[in-house]
Amino acid sequence: SADLVQRLENAIETVPNFPHDGIMFRDITPIFLDHLLYADVILNLAEFSRGKVDAVCGIESRGYLFGIAVAVAIGVPFILIRKKGKLPPPFVAEKYDLEYGSAEIEMREGQLKPGQRVLIHDDLLATGGTTEAAARLVQKQGATVSQFSFLIGLRGLQGEQKLAQFDAEIHKILEY
Ligand code: PRP
Ligand code: MG
Repeated sequence: SADLVQRLENAIETVPNFPHDGIMFRDITPIFLDHLLYADVILNLAEFSRGKVDAVCGIESRGYLFGIAVAVAIGVPFILIRKKGKLPPPFVAEKYDLEYGSAEIEMREGQLKPGQRVLIHDDLLATGGTTEAAARLVQKQGATVSQFSFLIGLRGLQGEQKLAQFDAEIHKILEY
């Protein structure tokens, strides 16, 4: 709702030139000081996904902050997508490009079942590189990417265009 967007805008702190010059950092940590605001964020995200997905995949680490609560609220499993080297075998992995170099994400093998409809959740959609890799990881296991949800979408970085290939619903609570 418009009211939730306003309350989030009030809570989120914008820090210029962090972590690099020219970057406007959106700090979501104050959201956790206000349990009523946090609860309303979860309700908003749960409403978008309830009845439409069989599992939620959250991306380390800020994707866990809301993703787990959403999965509990809608009554489906939560699966952790982790950064390289944190999970024991067997796991499946996906590489992706960063501005400089590359990164890799991993998921325990067998936690996602073939044919499951999946919500991929993260706090922020910027370039979409992280989320795109997560979606490929989901597809590799024979599951379907049905939805993406984010607290925040950043305009002007073509993140949504990068996700269009998956033909899934996209939800952002607010945009900058
Ligand atoms: C941030 C953010 C998203 C990602 C978005 O995570 O939480 O996961 O970057 O960027 P993209 O759309 O350009 O891929 P970060 O890697 O900083 O780690 P964190 O979640 O552990 O803080
Ligand atoms: Mg992140």
